[in-house]
Amino acid sequence: MSSILKNKKIIVGTTGSIAAYKTPLLVRELMRASAHVNVVMTPSAKNFVTPMVLENLSRSAVACEMFDEAVQSEGAWHIQLAHWADLMIIAPCSATTLGRLANGICDTSLATVATALPTGVPMLIAPSMDTDMWVNPATQRNVRLLKEYGYMIIPPGDGQLSSGLVGLGRLPDIPVLMNYIKDAFTDSPNRFPLDESLLQGKKVIITAGSTVEKIDDVRYITNHSTGKMGYALAAAAKEAGADVTLISGPVHIDAPSAVNIINVTTAEEMFNASVKEFADTDIAIMAAAVADYTPANPANGKIKKDGSGNNMTLELKETKDILAHLGANKTGSQIVIGFALESEKEIEYGRKKLEKKNCNMIVVNSATAPRSGFGGDDNTISILKKNTDEVKSFEPASKIVCARGIVKEIVGL
Ligand code: CTP
Repeated sequence: MSSILKNKKIIVGTTGSIAAYKTPLLVRELMRASAHVNVVMTPSAKNFVTPMVLENLSRSAVACEMFDEAVQSEGAWHIQLAHWADLMIIAPCSATTLGRLANGICDTSLATVATALPTGVPMLIAPSMDTDMWVNPATQRNVRLLKEYGYMIIPPGDGQLSSGLVGLGRLPDIPVLMNYIKDAFTDSPNRFPLDESLLQGKKVIITAGSTVEKIDDVRYITNHSTGKMGYALAAAAKEAGADVTLISGPVHIDAPSAVNIINVTTAEEMFNASVKEFADTDIAIMAAAVADYTPANPANGKIKKDGSGNNMTLELKETKDILAHLGANKTGSQIVIGFALESEKEIEYGRKKLEKKNCNMIVVNSATAPRSGFGGDDNTISILKKNTDEVKSFEPASKIVCARGIVKEIVGL
């Protein structure tokens, strides 16, 4: 499949943040996607990553000092480079560089190129620093200003930081950064972050990922859900200003910034957490792939093979349907949204689910469409709503773009 990034000209900026050690991985991914890359780094970024690595991976001279001989050949090189680019991304962006850009201080080659970027060329900034530096009012003010200037701020991830502390400030994983870059080149109106007034003051709960059902102490039943769609919805609802609680099965992806996480394992734990949280919730989005059945008699220890050659029968009992329970118990002001993953007759089966589980809206995704379903970064969705036959189908897009489309539809409800 031809990459949307083929022949795109991209400036990658890197700064004096420990996460600069990941910039080469981003450059490598962009090159693999057949983009043309030029790297600009601040002098302090050299403490974390060498120009040599970035030069080799991008196959271009790396600009660091404003007056480096290596980059002078074209005269006003910072203007030439800025006008060459289809997009610029700074990943990681330190607190200092955020401050420079917010205030137009061009005392590094990176800030100079960024400031010279022509209007309309997307600028993506991935701040990365320790939590206290991130929440500092000066940093937050700079971020607000940069958003006002039209720069796309990629929210930092939550988790283990290099300092040993745990909190907000991680550079998102490379696939996440790549998705933001790809989204900047799509036509979807949902490629832009949502306005934070859309869901201001609303509490949103989202279930995500799979559940794990114990057979015995070493075996279990689960499914292929990675949680990406639910986590993208949490990020989109947060962008829209909601107070977000993510009720998550075991996943291997970073939590979006500033959402409350309740980690659960089994369908029963997910049911209990969802019902408890639902009491004061405005909007519930059930994106988890909850096990429909769980072993009726989970064993302690390890079940032994009896060696008889006979089949073994595992008795399963139905789990409680969280979506159906919330749909049956919602008040007039609560909104409940479900997902339907179908392998055929998507719209027909989706509508049946909408009625049966008394939802306000069902998001249908196909298990068989090329950019759809479990695991991938993209999805192809259609939206069905109660009391209307209208079907709103979206073009295939990254899960965050789909999530923004879903959130906008919820706001429309
Ligand atoms: N769901 C839930 N609790 C369950 C099972 C499913 O909340 N125990 C929710 C899912 O999160 C999703 C929706 O129900 O929002 C659809 O789930 P799905 O498994 O596709 O539908 P089922 O009702 O199980 O129907 P079928 O297996 O026949 O497709």
